Amino acid sequence: MREFVKVFSPATVANVGCGFDVVGFSFSAVGDIISFRKIDEPGVFIKAVRGKYEIPGDPERNTITIPILKVMEDKNVDFGVEVEIEKNIPVAGGLGSSAAGAVAGAVGINYLLGNILDDNKILEYALVAEEKVSGGRHADNIAPCFYGGFVIVRDVFSMEVVRIPFPEDLFCVVIHPHVSLRTEDSRKVLPEKIFLGDVVKQMAHLSCFISGLLLGRKDLLSAVNFDCVAEPVRSRLIPEYRMIKEVALEAGAIGCNISGSGPSVFAFAEGERETEHVGKEMGSVWDRIGLEYDLYVGKVSEQGVRLIEE
Ligand code: HSE
Repeated sequence: MREFVKVFSPATVANVGCGFDVVGFSFSAVGDIISFRKIDEPGVFIKAVRGKYEIPGDPERNTITIPILKVMEDKNVDFGVEVEIEKNIPVAGGLGSSAAGAVAGAVGINYLLGNILDDNKILEYALVAEEKVSGGRHADNIAPCFYGGFVIVRDVFSMEVVRIPFPEDLFCVVIHPHVSLRTEDSRKVLPEKIFLGDVVKQMAHLSCFISGLLLGRKDLLSAVNFDCVAEPVRSRLIPEYRMIKEVALEAGAIGCNISGSGPSVFAFAEGERETEHVGKEMGSVWDRIGLEYDLYVGKVSEQGVRLIEE
């Protein structure tokens, strides 16, 4: 059994346009680094939070420590855990910040217990935290954060998920404005009902998108431009969203949409230089209105959460 582990937990892009609450991918261009140390004193303690972003110091409210507390209660754990966090993923930014914490917490305590939990159980514990802070039961961030790559979530109760292959050289840019939008709030604006015609369109686009990934046909990935569930209402919460999307597509992006519940926006493009160019053009829209932002460019990552030190 390990006494200490440090993990890297990647950012994720959920929904991916047409796959609301169902599809997500791992995006290692940014991630949190979290360490877990076994201590004699029972309980869970957040010893330090470093990095660019602030998160709750109360273990009952922090997504990293919520799964640890739950596992400790369920398994009658007699030791304590001290947690140190380097928070690099924007909080309330649409890049799976809470999921990265939840997955890291579930994985971290599992390592300290000698790997007693199977993958499904780890996801279930992570989901306890994700559900608590986001106001909805969705696993399209935690599943790709755990497994890496693209993941389809079939069922959030049995936690049946499917990992799917994707083109090896699929580049992505995510642009994160310096405004926060909590998932809990952006779920409140979602429609309760969807027209049948829209459901048909959404299924058609999602099927094409998944086929594009499986067949390596990047032309089909333009299907991510479509979403009739979240984009129409959430786009109003993102400054200049329509303009950003238009500029991204004009600059050569394959597809562009809201990252997770926003306010970040992602775009797929061909090759690193082209993707950087797309990101720069997208950023120029916010430059014009004086809105600050961060740009992350990278490949869709094969890797999910991983041990980096023990
Ligand atoms: N599918 C979730 C939502 C993702 O859009 O609310 C949150 O990151």
